[in-house]
This record gives sequence, structure tokens and C-alpha cells, in this order.
Amino acid sequence: MRWVFLGLAILTALVIRAMGTRGTVSDRRPLMAFSDMDFQPRYNPQAAGPFFADGRAMRSPPAGTVPFGGADYASDAGSPRQNPDFLREDDAYYRGKQGNGWVTANPLRVDMDLLQRGQERYGIFCAPCHGATGTGNGVMVQYGMVGVASITDALHALMPDGQYFDVISNGKGRMMPYGSQIKVRDRWAIIAYLRALARSQNASLSDVPESIRGELKP
Ligand code: HEC
Repeated sequence: MRWVFLGLAILTALVIRAMGTRGTVSDRRPLMAFSDMDFQPRYNPQAAGPFFADGRAMRSPPAGTVPFGGADYASDAGSPRQNPDFLREDDAYYRGKQGNGWVTANPLRVDMDLLQRGQERYGIFCAPCHGATGTGNGVMVQYGMVGVASITDALHALMPDGQYFDVISNGKGRMMPYGSQIKVRDRWAIIAYLRALARSQNASLSDVPESIRGELKP
């Protein structure tokens, strides 16, 4: 009986010894019948190597290297894989800022296409709160949303385009940011449309070309 106990004790000690080393790192190769090319004469990323004088196996990219690609879904380029404007260095276009001030003029060429795009995007993203005319009486107000700003009145005519861009991108006060949902180009399109909308709210007869004044209804 004594030998059985002793055998059991030795077996337990062996099992604990074998299991106890699990998770410990060893430099030695494990014994493998088939190595399946697991071990190759190469360097791991960011590992040390004796070949170069600085002791690094990897080389750093040459100065001025620009990353090509990168998952940048909010960009204009469309495809997340091919985005030549990955770095977004253009402060005016991507942040609405010029030095310490706001961009004062829309960086895009304002034409009918841009205005129509802006009108469509405004209807989707802004009109629910700010209303079709931008006076802050959108449908959300009927559902209890309070304090929605008018954005097409005379006061906001003084607000620079870049500041509109900033509010859309980062939100303001109780307004949520829409930077992740509205592409940069579309934000500028909305701003161009807002300018037209504000003009239409505060227009006088002299703003209408003489040739079509007759079409105006009182
Ligand atoms: C969910 C409702 C909602 C939506 C959608 C919304 N806004 Fe707003 N917006 C607000 C509220 C509320 C404020 C007032 C924020 C405050 O001052 O606390 C505001 C404020 C603003 C201001 C600042 C006005 C000021 O006097 O500084 C601008 C500009 C603006 N919105 C533009 C937009 C544009 C452009 C869109 C569409 C891309 C948009 N908003 C979408 C609710 C909304």
C-alpha cells in the first residue's frame, strides 16, 4: 500500500511539474515531428538584427513618405482603399479654418449641381430640426425639441462659412455633430445651399432680375 501512495505522490508531482510550465516562454525549439515551415531564417517586425549599424532589422520609410490608402470612410474619395487625400492637410477644406480664423468663402465652386446636392442633403440632415426654411421650426419641434436655432436670419448671414462647417462637423451646444455622417464635400454643399436659402428669406425686389419680376405673385 505504501508504494501505491508513493507512486501516486510522484505522479501528482510530475503532472503539476508538466502543467506548471504552461505559459512560460522558452527560447528553445519545441520537439516537433513535422515543423511545417514554422521556423524560418527571417526577422520579425520591429525586431533587432545584426546587419544594419543601428541594430534594427527594419528600415524606416524615407522622409516625406505618404501613406497610400487607409480606412477613411468620411472622405470624399469614396473607396476606403484608395484615398489620395488621406492626410487631410488642407485646413480650409477639412476644418473650415484659415490660420486662427474661419474660412469666409466656400472652397468649392458653387454651381447649380452643388446647390441641388446641398438642398437634398439639407432636407435629409438639417430640415427635421431647422425646418425647410432654416428658421428652426422643423418637425422635431412639434415633437418637443426646444431651442433649435434659426440659421438663415440676418444674424447668421454674418456667420462665416467655416463656422457653419465647424458646427456641422463638431456640433454646438445641444446640437449633435454630423461629421461622421455627412461627407466633407456634402457639408460644403449644404453651406452653399444655406446661403441661397438665407438670401431667399431676406430678399428684396431688387434681388430678382428685372426680366422675371413680372412672374412674381403678391
Ligand atoms: C436634432 C436636431 C438638429 C439637427 C438635425 C440639426 N441641428 Fe443645428 N442645431 C440644433 C440645435 C438644438 C441648435 C442650438 C444649439 C445650442 O445653441 O445649444 C442648433 C444650432 C445650429 C447652428 C448654430 C447656430 C448659432 O447661432 O450658433 C448651426 C449653424 C446649425 N445648427 C446648423 C445645422 C445644419 C447645417 C444642420 C444639418 C447638417 C443641422 N444644424 C442639423 C438642432 C439640430
